[in-house]
Amino acid sequence: MFKVIVFDAYGTLFDVYSVSKMAETLFPGHGQALSILWRDKQIEYTRLISMSDPHNPNGSRHYQSFWDITRLALNYSCQRLKLELTAQAQKDLLDQYAELKAFPENLGVLHDLQKRGFKNAILSNGSPKMLDSAVRSAGMSTLLDSIISVDTVRQFKTSPESYDLVLQNYPVDKREVLFVSSNAWDALGATWFGFRSFWVNRQGLPFETLGPKPTHTGSSLEDVLALTSRI
Ligand code: LAC
Repeated sequence: MFKVIVFDAYGTLFDVYSVSKMAETLFPGHGQALSILWRDKQIEYTRLISMSDPHNPNGSRHYQSFWDITRLALNYSCQRLKLELTAQAQKDLLDQYAELKAFPENLGVLHDLQKRGFKNAILSNGSPKMLDSAVRSAGMSTLLDSIISVDTVRQFKTSPESYDLVLQNYPVDKREVLFVSSNAWDALGATWFGFRSFWVNRQGLPFETLGPKPTHTGSSLEDVLALTSRI
């Protein structure tokens, strides 16, 4: 039985693609492409840093907060798609990113899990300030026991050091942690680390062919609730 349920934030609790609507208004015909490239680039930059920095004999020099990475990834994506990003458009898109929409079932599920005695936590690449802002604007503050940011270790998921932050916050066995993510790569990283994992496959995608498969799979957070009722 698990004691702590740890959620990824972006993509799992908050809908990163909800910015595509504003992107479409700003850049008609390119909203979806921009939001997808923006997300991919953002994650690519986190991996670049996590692969290079920890082994750098000169110390961690390339780390930047996820918020800064998000801005840089937006700038890159607009350049790549040949979209002119004015200072105002950049501000509008980033303001929206700071207050992303939560998926509709999330509040209810977090509430029910809390009522059943589980500790709900977030482990995210997000920097503390942006996580606070997203959690507050989604009305989730009282439903979470803790919000853990990888910022402390200056490495991003899927580095083991970042997942280990959960164990530093909760003195439990790895197998007592259920790690929930909509990002298949994150569910895989958590499985590799030794957590039990739950992949929320919201888009009906295939799982990474680089295994192993997650411990559990579902299509929304409701399925996490159903799992906890079964065991
Ligand atoms: C996070 C991103 C990677 O919240 O989804 O960690």
